[in-house]
Amino acid sequence: MKIEILETYEELSKRAAELILNYVNTNPSLNLALPTGGTPLATYSELRKLFSQGKADFSKANIFQIDEYVGLPPEHPQSYVHYLTKEIISPLKIPKENITFYNALTDNPQEETSDYEQTLKSIGYPDLMGLGIGHNSHIAFNEPGTSFTSRTHIVDLAEKTIEANSRFFNNKDEVPKQAFTTGLATIMDSKNILLLASGEGKAEAVAKSFQGEVSEEHPASILQKHPSTTILLDKEAASKLKL
Ligand code: GLP
Repeated sequence: MKIEILETYEELSKRAAELILNYVNTNPSLNLALPTGGTPLATYSELRKLFSQGKADFSKANIFQIDEYVGLPPEHPQSYVHYLTKEIISPLKIPKENITFYNALTDNPQEETSDYEQTLKSIGYPDLMGLGIGHNSHIAFNEPGTSFTSRTHIVDLAEKTIEANSRFFNNKDEVPKQAFTTGLATIMDSKNILLLASGEGKAEAVAKSFQGEVSEEHPASILQKHPSTTILLDKEAASKLKL
């Protein structure tokens, strides 16, 4: 596991865009799982800038979603399909046929999870999986206590996660209570992982996950065992690490 500490969120975002682009340039038809949330927003903005300068070609990349709210229609502004489409897929003109999204409106969410895992397996587990981290050390939507052997599954969201994500909705009651998530074992099957964390609010989760013991209470801690993980932090997110 490699930890890089950048001075500011802006620098972290530029570095993240640079690393993602390196992967795409090395293997244009890579399988790329993309994170959502507030943290990667400036990374996507940087990638849009590079695209407009003719420096980023994602047209052959196979894009995967990492997580999604159960029951939220794709056109809902807070669905992760909507987010990824707006932030990166449309602006970078990534062809629709290269994209694998959860069907959040399925009548059979359980079946959707096995279908999603099967699709990942047949197209190929990600060459690069981008991740953020929650205040309680969740990655994707794998909440504390999730088994390290988990595959794509449905989760009941932790109160802390619902609270954190309510800032994107009109109020807390609008936040869906369940989500689809790529499992921890599925994440570990990715060839390379890039996790971004910014701000003091993430400092404790970062320190516990990456300098504490590997434990299901801190889902992100499993990344300590991954052979090719890069953690990008700004100064604030790194503030509780012992350096
Ligand atoms: C959300 C998402 C995660 C994301 C994390 C951090 O709940 N499910 O995929 O990485 O929380 O989000 P943010 O970057 O907004 O802090």
